[in-house]
Formats: sequence, structure tokens, C-alpha cells
Amino acid sequence: MDKIEVKNLAYEYVQADNKKKKALDNINLIINKGEFVAVIGMNGSGKSTLARHFNGLLLPSEGSCTVNGLDTKDEASIWQIRQKVGMVFQNPDNQIIAAIVEDDVAFGPENLGIMPEEIKKRVTESLKAIGMEKQRNLAPHLLSGGQKQLIAIAGVLAMRTDYMVLDEPTAMLDPSGREAVMEAICAVREKYGMTVILITHFMDEAVSADRIVVMSNGKIAADGTPREIFRNSGKIRELGLEPPLAAQMAYDLRKRGINIPADIYTDNDLVKSLQK
Ligand SMILES: Nc1ncnc2c1ncn2[C@@H]1O[C@H](COP(=O)(O)OP(=O)(O)O)[C@@H](O)[C@H]1O
Ligand SMILES: [Mg+2]
Repeated sequence: MDKIEVKNLAYEYVQADNKKKKALDNINLIINKGEFVAVIGMNGSGKSTLARHFNGLLLPSEGSCTVNGLDTKDEASIWQIRQKVGMVFQNPDNQIIAAIVEDDVAFGPENLGIMPEEIKKRVTESLKAIGMEKQRNLAPHLLSGGQKQLIAIAGVLAMRTDYMVLDEPTAMLDPSGREAVMEAICAVREKYGMTVILITHFMDEAVSADRIVVMSNGKIAADGTPREIFRNSGKIRELGLEPPLAAQMAYDLRKRGINIPADIYTDNDLVKSLQK
């Protein structure tokens, strides 16, 4: 029962001119508790629309989305669902609410009505988990974009949700910020065993997941382990995506008749295979 389950889901936006735009079409997807799933796909393929269904920010036009058996369409469940699914968005400046870092991290659990002593404990623990305890008394505007995203992640940790959904959390960050956020995601998984759904357009981020879901035109075009997904660089390119460099090189070398396994997608594997 501990899973996010999307069944025959379709979603239509009603545009300003009253025309309808189908953004998701017959999506079927199960995300089990404990998984680390990356969602990739071209701009406009429906990734953000899907992510917003996971905590009931959007409700299906057809089909259903349930979180641990609770239907997002059921108004009585939405409060509970929001406690189970935490969201981190792309723009670091749009999700900080408080004037001091620790107050910002405390905001979520405060809304849940948790006792002050427990909140304090959770804030300290969450900031520690992502390596931001030294900044706890700073004003968020003094932080870098990457650090602001870490604070947003700490905020979700402090709520102790089951699931953390991150919608292109690194898109606006410089390389060091991106790295810090990816490290924090790993820490979240190791220390809290949290289920992570990471939407990203960076393939090197997607390959760190256990599973990759590829979206195209409002549909799921592929779903498998990074190895399965990148085994066919040609298909990934057809879906408008750039495979990881190692997978591209392996693919090109194979096409030139060099005997190299089909399922290479990390630099390490490529180097090892070339050494042989
Ligand atoms: N508020 C909106 N109103 C109308 N159409 C929208 C709206 N938001 C997104 N869309 C359309 O829905 C489709 C999917 O968008 P989105 O989920 O944002 O894709 P992605 O996150 O993969 O870039 C796109 O065609 C987009 O133009
Ligand atoms: Mg998006």
C-alpha cells in the first residue's frame, strides 16, 4: 500500500482562449516506497504536470492518483497527502518564506502542528543532514541559489514526508550548486531512506537514480534502470534527449565496429571496457 499509484491518468489544461490542451495522456505508473526515480523528457513533455499530481496540486481530468492508498481527488485526504509528499521546485527564490534559515525549515512542521521542542530537534537534524547547520541563523537572501535549494530540501526533511518530489531543482544553479543539491539528495536517501522522485534535464543526474521514467508528449515513452534506458542511445535521441556522454561514445564506437558492450553509460564503465 505504501506507494504512489497513477492509473489511466489524463490531464487537460484549459487555456486562456478556452481551448483545451492535453498535457498528460493515459499515464500508468507505480512508484514504490524507497525508490529513487528520475523523470526525464523534453520541455513540454508533461513532467511538471505529472509531478503536481503527486501531492494533489493538480487533480486528474481522467483516471486517478493515489498516495499510500489515499486518492488525491478525495478532499478529506489532501491534508494527509501533503504530509506524505514534499515538493521542491526549480526557482530557489520562490520557495523561501521566512527571514531566517531555521524559521524557514521549521515552517512545514509548524503547519503540521508539531510541538516546538520536536520542531527544534527536527530543524537541527535536517540542517545537519544536508550540511547547512552553520547557516541556521542567517538570512536566506545571503545564501547562494544552491544553498537555498538545500534549505528547501531541509524543510521537506523536517516534515518527515515519505516522498520528496523535486522538479528540476538544479536547473537554475551553477555546477557547484548542482553538485551540492545532488549530494543532499544522496544524504536524504541514506539517512532517511526517503523515496525520491527527481525531475531533471541533466542526464548525469538521472543516472544516479535506480530507475528512469522517460516522458514524451504527455506519455511515458520508456521506464527502466539507467542501464536499460541508455542501452539504446538512438531511441533516447529520437525522444529529443542527449544520452550521457559515455553512452553516446559507446554507441558511436559500436557503430564503427568496435566491440564494446551495449549497456555502457558511465565514464568508469567506458574506460574499463576500452582498456580491455
Ligand atoms: N498553465 C498551463 N496552461 C496551459 N498549458 C500548459 C500550462 N502549463 C503547461 N502547459 C502545457 O502542458 C504541456 C506540459 O507542460 P509541462 O508539464 O510544464 O512540461 P515539462 O515540465 O515537461 O516541461 C506543455 O505543452 C505546456 O505548454
Ligand atoms: Mg517542467
